[in-house]
Amino acid sequence: MYPYSHEPFTNFAEEKNIQEFKEALAFVQSQLGKHYPVIIGGESITTEEKMVSINPANKEEVIGMVSMANQELAEEAMQAALTAFESWKTWKPEHRANILFRAAAILRHRKHEFSSYLVKEAGKPWKEADADTAEAIDFLEFYARQMLSIKEGIPVQSRFGEFNQYSYIPLGVGIIISPFNFPLAIMAGTTVAAIVTGNTVLLKPANSTPIVAAKFVELMHEAGIPNGVLNFVPGSGSQIGDYLVDHSKTRFVSFTGSREVGCRIYERAAKVNPGQIWLKRVIAEMGGKDTVVVDHDADLDLAAASIVYSAFGYSGQKCSAGSRAVVHQDVYDVVLEKAVALTKTLTLGNPELEDTYMGPVIDERSFKKIMNYIEIGKEEGRLMTGGEGDESKGYFIQPTIFADLDENARLMKEEIFGPVVTFCKAQDFNHMMKIANNTDYGLTGALISNDCENIERAREEFHVGNLYFNRVCTGAIVGYQPFGGFNMSGTDSKAGGPDYLLLHMQAKTTSEML
Ligand code: NAD
Ligand code: ALA
Repeated sequence: MYPYSHEPFTNFAEEKNIQEFKEALAFVQSQLGKHYPVIIGGESITTEEKMVSINPANKEEVIGMVSMANQELAEEAMQAALTAFESWKTWKPEHRANILFRAAAILRHRKHEFSSYLVKEAGKPWKEADADTAEAIDFLEFYARQMLSIKEGIPVQSRFGEFNQYSYIPLGVGIIISPFNFPLAIMAGTTVAAIVTGNTVLLKPANSTPIVAAKFVELMHEAGIPNGVLNFVPGSGSQIGDYLVDHSKTRFVSFTGSREVGCRIYERAAKVNPGQIWLKRVIAEMGGKDTVVVDHDADLDLAAASIVYSAFGYSGQKCSAGSRAVVHQDVYDVVLEKAVALTKTLTLGNPELEDTYMGPVIDERSFKKIMNYIEIGKEEGRLMTGGEGDESKGYFIQPTIFADLDENARLMKEEIFGPVVTFCKAQDFNHMMKIANNTDYGLTGALISNDCENIERAREEFHVGNLYFNRVCTGAIVGYQPFGGFNMSGTDSKAGGPDYLLLHMQAKTTSEML
């Protein structure tokens, strides 16, 4: 088998790729409005209650309808997963891995089609959609190989007359709960990590992006996943989410989403319910308030570009988005001016058009929340550019910069999850590190600096799970920059990292006297 390397991004400077992407968009356009069922034990179930997925760039356009599971169906799905676990856990790791390799090949073959669903359903511009699909392929390829590398366990010592072994076995039924912002990559990555390790799962996708998840579940069945291993249960978080998190047969929960929901799941899962014979494992990857720090001797063009692209990629709707710029006082004005000028060149509009840099935010709730933060920003800081929203057709918000924020301002501390970045002036490097670490979160950060001593200091002091030097703080690549955060950013599970699969397994020691 060839060694893992990440899926290359599509070069949209090539006319051939542009044409192929346009064809995929046209194909997806012809598929809009379809219905997607709940899938339990391989059976498709249509329910009365449907969620309607709409295009956030064009509220009139329905992407599709998805049947919603209620608690009764969630229970059926649990039973199907429990039954399937008994046989799936006995499958050879090679055979489980092969399903992921096959799924990666199918997804690569249909890359632009999946990316087009991301454009339509999540409002991702082409490059962001392409990166999301590439990341999903990476997770499939990477976790399949990781499974092969741990299938024999880890050697341990044996004394004379003794034969000791240390190996990993699956946990049981897992609940996978995914967010809207990487509706393919994170949904697929968290699902297949649980599956390839021998567990069976119930997948509850985000309510604003269920169609791309439904397409992925179809693809996994095409790749040969046995019935009952991957059950698809779209539905309300408070109804079936709570029900499944609380369920005594749930062995683990793999959640990615907001701090609020993550903490709720963590607390509920900690309670041992009647009939439960284990302590549930919880992987909870949550929000961020990520900072780009600019040192006095930085390359100032690089600094401005790092701030702007970290802040506004996918309209700031990345947990890794750089939503704060902390800049040394000596270069503050120049960096701010350059960042504002660069931001004014960004195109905001229909993500279906190839040269759109920024599309809409995901839905009305997000739009209102972000616009409210913009109003707070007008009180707390100086509006430099942007600040306007337009929800007449879709949920569009201009890329927005606020300057001169106090280090303890709300906009400096709370996750906005939209295209808003705040500038804060720092006196010296000590001050920069203090501000960089002054939130409850600890997900990503970047330092733009040419000072090796400060780079080494930041390596020690900047308390985030993913720290980058002289680049943006977004765009971690599976297998290259394992991803996950500290503090209220979550359990630091490091998706796409060498230890990730072990979180879905338990270690067993055997010792035999000879
Ligand atoms: P969200 O918390 O609103 O929803 C996430 C998922 O939880 C959805 O599927 C939702 O339906 C479900 N849910 C809601 N209530 C539930 C309940 N009571 N029980 C079980 N499930 C429930 O998050 P979102 O808006 O989809 O995503 C944005 C958030 O995700 C941001 O805070 C972002 O920072 C975070 N995020 C973190 C990472 C990371 O790796 N740390 C990656 C992506 C997104
Ligand atoms: N992997 C995504 C990023 O790093 C979350 O931006």
